[in-house]
Amino acid sequence: MLNIVIFGAPGSGKGTQSENLIENYKLFHISTGDVLRDHIRRGTELGKTAKEFIDQGQLIPDELMIGILAQVIDDNKELAQNGVIFDGFPRTIPQAEALETLLNERGTSVSAVVGLEVPEQELIDRLVKRGQMSGRSDDNEETIKKRLNVYHNQTSPLQEFYKEKGLYHAIKGIGTINGIFEDIKAAIDSINAF
Ligand code: AP5
Ligand code: MG
Repeated sequence: MLNIVIFGAPGSGKGTQSENLIENYKLFHISTGDVLRDHIRRGTELGKTAKEFIDQGQLIPDELMIGILAQVIDDNKELAQNGVIFDGFPRTIPQAEALETLLNERGTSVSAVVGLEVPEQELIDRLVKRGQMSGRSDDNEETIKKRLNVYHNQTSPLQEFYKEKGLYHAIKGIGTINGIFEDIKAAIDSINAF
């Protein structure tokens, strides 16, 4: 199984590059943000809770998020036979530790972490622009700033966590979408060559 964590700040291109990864490696895509937005659309209890955190640019509590992720993995065993792209998870050290346990219990592990590295102003510009077009509720300047703060304080320590395990592959996340994907592919193929 090829389990890829696509990692990066809000707006770094995790969702965009996941599309290419799905196509190229036939992996199952789990975007925790998409899972939560789907609950919000359907008006579930979880959706109501999630909306409060998302609209404040804050993370959903670890315990809740880890439970949701485990459920999605177990509900999609067939589709995930080749492996999974984790997009937006993990976002904290406890989530990363839980992911390790979850995968180990299922006889597998994280194969590589692809870290999309994009300058801060470019992230803001991309998200403001998307907010004007798509109307995603957390794509306004105030919430974008909060999301970036949360990323720096709670999520970016995972770079070190995965570097120490030899799993982190830094990718320059600016340029054309296809050009960036070529770099991602080279990184994954270097570990997937056997
Ligand atoms: P989530 O949905 O994961 O959002 P995010 O990480 O904040 O960031 P985005 O999805 O906006 O960015 P992306 O990196 O996917 O970039 P994209 O490809 O879209 O999370 C939302 C919220 O849910 C969180 O704030 C939190 O509240 C909650 N949540 C989710 N997971 C959680 C977890 N594990 N624990 C706790 N809470 C959680 O690209 C962005 C834009 O840039 C697009 O318009 C795109 O077209 C454009 N773009 C992409 N690539 C390029 C390029 N190369 N050049 C120019 N433009 C580009
Ligand atoms: Mg995304």
